Amino acid sequence: MDSKEIMKSDKKYFVQGYERVPIVLTEGKGTLLKDLEGNEYIDCFAGISVSNVGHAHGRLVEAASEQMSKIIHTSGRFFNIPQTLLVEKLAEITPGDLKFTYLCNSGTEAVENAVKLVKKYAFSRGKAGSALIALECSFHGRLGYSLSLTGQAKYKKGFSTYANAPGVVHAPVPYCYRSKLSPEECGVEAALAIEKVVDRHTAGDVAAFIMEPILGEGGIIIPPDSYFKTLTKILREREILFILDEVQTGFGRTGKMFASEHWNLTPDLMALAKGLGGGMPIGAAIVTSEIANCVAFGDFFSTYGGNPVCSAVALENIAIIQEESLVDNSVKIGKHFKDGLKDMQQKNPIIGDIRGKGLMIGIELVKDSQTKTPASNEAKKMVEYLKNEGVIIGLGGIYGNVLRLQPPLCITEDQATTVLEKIEQGLNIS
Ligand SMILES: Cc1ncc(COP(=O)(O)O)c(C=O)c1O
Repeated sequence: MDSKEIMKSDKKYFVQGYERVPIVLTEGKGTLLKDLEGNEYIDCFAGISVSNVGHAHGRLVEAASEQMSKIIHTSGRFFNIPQTLLVEKLAEITPGDLKFTYLCNSGTEAVENAVKLVKKYAFSRGKAGSALIALECSFHGRLGYSLSLTGQAKYKKGFSTYANAPGVVHAPVPYCYRSKLSPEECGVEAALAIEKVVDRHTAGDVAAFIMEPILGEGGIIIPPDSYFKTLTKILREREILFILDEVQTGFGRTGKMFASEHWNLTPDLMALAKGLGGGMPIGAAIVTSEIANCVAFGDFFSTYGGNPVCSAVALENIAIIQEESLVDNSVKIGKHFKDGLKDMQQKNPIIGDIRGKGLMIGIELVKDSQTKTPASNEAKKMVEYLKNEGVIIGLGGIYGNVLRLQPPLCITEDQATTVLEKIEQGLNIS
């Protein structure tokens, strides 16, 4: 079968719920991908911020095959060794007092379970925990509560109340590039707005506030320092639990093991997935002992959660990130990218904004640097151009005008330079 035949057959039998890049991937090694026709690509998106240690890392392959040869599946009804070692490791590397982990199978599930955990916690305190606050422009998943928490209407069309769970309210995002205020003021204003949201849109019985420390799908939006300072004060004063969705930002992506470390944040709960499993389907909700203590037998269960193969690979994946200094490489190559892009911005006014930490970088394209009109078509064309030139990048933002560079953290400086050259060529052509 060639690529065309695969895609034709897929159209006949696969629910067409999302558009795909017309490439059939067959192999990956490090930062390189290969398709069915043998074309090579530099991967600058890591399967949406997942393959942080690179593709087909020998140690991951070995960890998976060794575990598979022992036992592939136990179900949640039994203990298994990799699962226990993994939750112990997560308690060691996550910030603050996060100590107890519930394992599941994806980012969406991590968020869904986070919601259950904070609801149960509220219940244990004699409250209903009827409201949840999330941010506009956010992305937390596409099922039930996670879709309701997602602050982008485009994902909700046609799903009526399924996409709008009762009690979920949204607060403004500190999207400073699109604010008339200074970053400092923009951050304070957005954080203070949470108080208004609580007072005007809830009965005051708020189970938790959830946010991505850096908004990924929303267009690599980085809240300014002032936002977190004011936010954490408000949450503390109002006794609102703080959930950080680090599904996309975790495991070295932003130049720290977790993005929360940039601001010394100590959430009550963190949702993890993507970079956790190096490509294996695994998610986690990690909480403080106070929250974990309100959970009783029967509250949670998953047939596959804590699967020994996924856990063994995740454990090895974390060891690789630490032993191969991939967090440092994320900082180093992230700077190389940003320096090169800033140079390009001088000559190309279509680059409205460059923002990012580590290897989570967004390039916001605009038609005019004054009006900041989103250059969405141009962004789409650039993604297409780069694909044809052998570079895979992502696209995001609420206007679809933010190019996203989120490569495996093992990307070399030479590979990054090639990506920069291709981007510059693309800008010259468009
Ligand atoms: C911040 C964030 N949360 C949750 C999710 C959902 O993760 P998954 O696609 O693994 O269900 C994503 C996916 O992109 C995400 O970026």
